[in-house]
Amino acid sequence: MLFSLSNAPFIAIGLLLAYYLVPYVQSGHKRNIPSPSLAAFTNLWLLLQARQGKRYLSVDEAHKKYGKVVRIAPNHVSIADDAAIQVIYGHGNGFLKADFYDAFVSIRRGLFNTRNRAEHTRKRKIVSHTFSAKSIGQFEQYIHANVKLFVDQWNKLAELETNPKTGYASIDALNWFNYLAFDIIGDLAFGAPFGMLKNGKDIAEMRKSPNEPPQYVAAVEVLNRRGEVSATLGCLPALKPYAKWIPDRFFTEGLAAVENLAGIAIARVNERVKPEVVANNTRVDLLAHLMEGRDETGEKLGREELTAEALTQLIAGSDTTSNTSCAILYWCLRTPGVVANLHKVLDDAIPKDVDVPTYAMVKDIPYLQWVISETMRIHSTSAMGLAREIPGGSNPITIADQTFYPGDILSVPSYTIHRSQEIWGKDAEEFVPGRWENITTRQKAAFIPFSHGPRACVGRNVAEMELLVIVATVFSQFEFQIEQEEEMQTREGFLRKPLGLQVGLRRRVRV
Ligand code: HEM
Repeated sequence: MLFSLSNAPFIAIGLLLAYYLVPYVQSGHKRNIPSPSLAAFTNLWLLLQARQGKRYLSVDEAHKKYGKVVRIAPNHVSIADDAAIQVIYGHGNGFLKADFYDAFVSIRRGLFNTRNRAEHTRKRKIVSHTFSAKSIGQFEQYIHANVKLFVDQWNKLAELETNPKTGYASIDALNWFNYLAFDIIGDLAFGAPFGMLKNGKDIAEMRKSPNEPPQYVAAVEVLNRRGEVSATLGCLPALKPYAKWIPDRFFTEGLAAVENLAGIAIARVNERVKPEVVANNTRVDLLAHLMEGRDETGEKLGREELTAEALTQLIAGSDTTSNTSCAILYWCLRTPGVVANLHKVLDDAIPKDVDVPTYAMVKDIPYLQWVISETMRIHSTSAMGLAREIPGGSNPITIADQTFYPGDILSVPSYTIHRSQEIWGKDAEEFVPGRWENITTRQKAAFIPFSHGPRACVGRNVAEMELLVIVATVFSQFEFQIEQEEEMQTREGFLRKPLGLQVGLRRRVRV
């Protein structure tokens, strides 16, 4: 009998071989593309790199070894060629987000993880309205209030916790940038800051209603875990339903984190949509604009969709900004001359009695902008290649002398492109803000910190406003010394995140 118990191991091995070999044989046109170890046969190679928090680096190393076109999973080819950016991410070819993004769905699909083109166009239209120039002007007051509280808290630390030996108060700057960015996005997307700056802690206060006692969630930690687990499962999305049984706390705790995060959004949005709250609302924040947004048929977002979109903004708009702010501080402090240059341009632009400058005061300072751009290039908060699928029914597409077909998944690795010597010159690995003074057309097109095309960052203008105001405030008000011996360590989830930045902090006296 074919299915006797004694045959089971052979059948299992046969099935396993078929599982790996069938896709390999079917993908004949990709067989000549070099790949690291077993990546051509199984998604497990990429999954393992992601599980170790270093996917961007492993892919970068693979490109250094094998060239511009590398197969990083049976069906996924990474193309480290800036000419591929427009082809893969631009409007022209209609590439779709790949199944990688299925691992990021909670509550229901939001703007970020929707893969269907029509559904995305509908959502994007509603959400884009939320980020119009007028809306962003209205957001500044909330950003300003949180940055002010951030300055007050750092002033207190500088006053009360200074080490008399060094003259500086020791802090982990990453923590504080997280408190700031989460409070800003809490204020914008949920109607009130989480209270992290006030408490000096990773604690998001959430109340189901104003009369109920608050519940507390460590939102920064939750978001970190969620990003890491989703980015790992995204390499093999079929694993997601079974992930809770994997005997690795990374997965079990990460999945629980996703639930907690959704809980924050549900509680906050439920409160905000109550008729009495809506009737008395005077806020002009992101949530207010999302509630007003309409699609082409004039329909507003339903409750569940509204909640999913507010959650999307929280996830997309929080640690992106904090990790980037932390990286900016690090690269400026470790590069001689940069802080002195910043002091000069900031002192020229910001009146002496102003602690938190307005956006108008800082938006046209070229050197400040260069420092931000140069950090986004060299650090690459979004470091991995963002996976896109060639849609069914498309014609074959040739990129870098290689022809691809519907169903193939392609990506351009941002970190590798941002550090390419061919594009940026011999000093690509160095932090040189001045390079932005004479940026070439090619370099401009190869700079993709917010991605490119229809799925590029919808919050880019808010992010740029936040970064300009935060960086201008931090350097005009405070002085720092790096207090850690080693380079800033990072780990990649969906984003490339610093693990901490130990600095000494003191108030800056302007002359
Ligand atoms: C320095 C800060 C930021 C960086 C580096 C950044 C980067 C990115 C990148 C690379 C993408 C494309 C992701 C992908 O294709 O998988 C993206 C998408 C997105 N970002 Fe940002 N982002 C930042 C801040 C923000 C902020 C502040 C918000 C909202 C308040 C936001 C909202 C979004 C949303 C909703 C998407 C999905 C857009 C879509 O698919 O249509 N981001 N961002």
